[in-house]
Amino acid sequence: MQRRNRILRQSQAIRSLVAETLITPHDFIAPLFVIEGKSVKEAIASMPGYYRFSLDLLKEEIKELWGLGIKSVLLFIKCPDALKDNKGTEALNPEGLMQRAIRAVKEAEPGMLVMTDVALDPYSSFGHDGIVEGSEILNDETVAVLAAMSLSHARAGADFVAPSDMMDGRILAIRQALEENSFTRTGIMSYSAKYASCFYGPFRDALDSAPGFGDKKSYQMDYANRREAVNETLQDVQEGADIVMVKPAMAYLDIIREIKNTVTIPVSAYHVSGEYAMIKAAAERGWLNEEKAMLESLTSIKRAGADLIATYFAKDAAKLIG
Ligand code: PBG
Repeated sequence: MQRRNRILRQSQAIRSLVAETLITPHDFIAPLFVIEGKSVKEAIASMPGYYRFSLDLLKEEIKELWGLGIKSVLLFIKCPDALKDNKGTEALNPEGLMQRAIRAVKEAEPGMLVMTDVALDPYSSFGHDGIVEGSEILNDETVAVLAAMSLSHARAGADFVAPSDMMDGRILAIRQALEENSFTRTGIMSYSAKYASCFYGPFRDALDSAPGFGDKKSYQMDYANRREAVNETLQDVQEGADIVMVKPAMAYLDIIREIKNTVTIPVSAYHVSGEYAMIKAAAERGWLNEEKAMLESLTSIKRAGADLIATYFAKDAAKLIG
């Protein structure tokens, strides 16, 4: 034999030396769910080990994450039903929960990078990402609110806004709004290739944000499509996105690679709630080793081409590899 491939696999020492992909806590964005109240840490049934935090406990969580080497968080809020409408009114409230959450994170740890979800669904009486008229989700009217919402987050101190709505033209509108108001240091992480996926189910439980009618297929992408992801992403880059994203991650590793080979700005991937829940559920039954499944999954997402990964495993993984 001229070549024995197993030579490079025979000990942990040589395997570590030639490993192509290493995940570190610096790769992770930790999504966080925030609710009103005091000393509230509410379990989410379909996301074992994950919680909704009130602002006081959010601060504790931020300090813990920072101590583990996690340097960025992605904020989501659970809006009380009474404040939901069809215009995103509460999303623009300077004293709204999101705006207070941004400030709370910065108080707890000024260095923590704060990214905020920009979409109407948590605020929508219809559970849709945009303004609803009849059975339609209006595009341009929604984009105007998303730009105002982004501005509101920037004012509260967000480092990055992360539009997750998939309306057309929103990156340009957000960039213009930021520029016109001199927020020249606020970044945009665009959910540029976001698919209409069943894997968001547990997240919608977490925020009580499931669509009240229909589905999200008229704005989120068809999972049968690959070229469409390239088009969406190139357009967002052109409109001024600083970071693009593929979502979900594990069922879309081919898309992550495709995007990585296409753009020269950082690519993120969102390892979504359903992907987290699957591993948790199988592990609870003893059918999978949770730690191994988690590390293998996260490594595969990075190997596919993700420079950063939004994942509910951020804290657990950081504890193991940090
Ligand atoms: C809302 C939003 C969703 C997720 C992130 N932002 C849900 C959706 O589009 O219905 C999903 C995240 C997850 O499942 O972990 N615009």
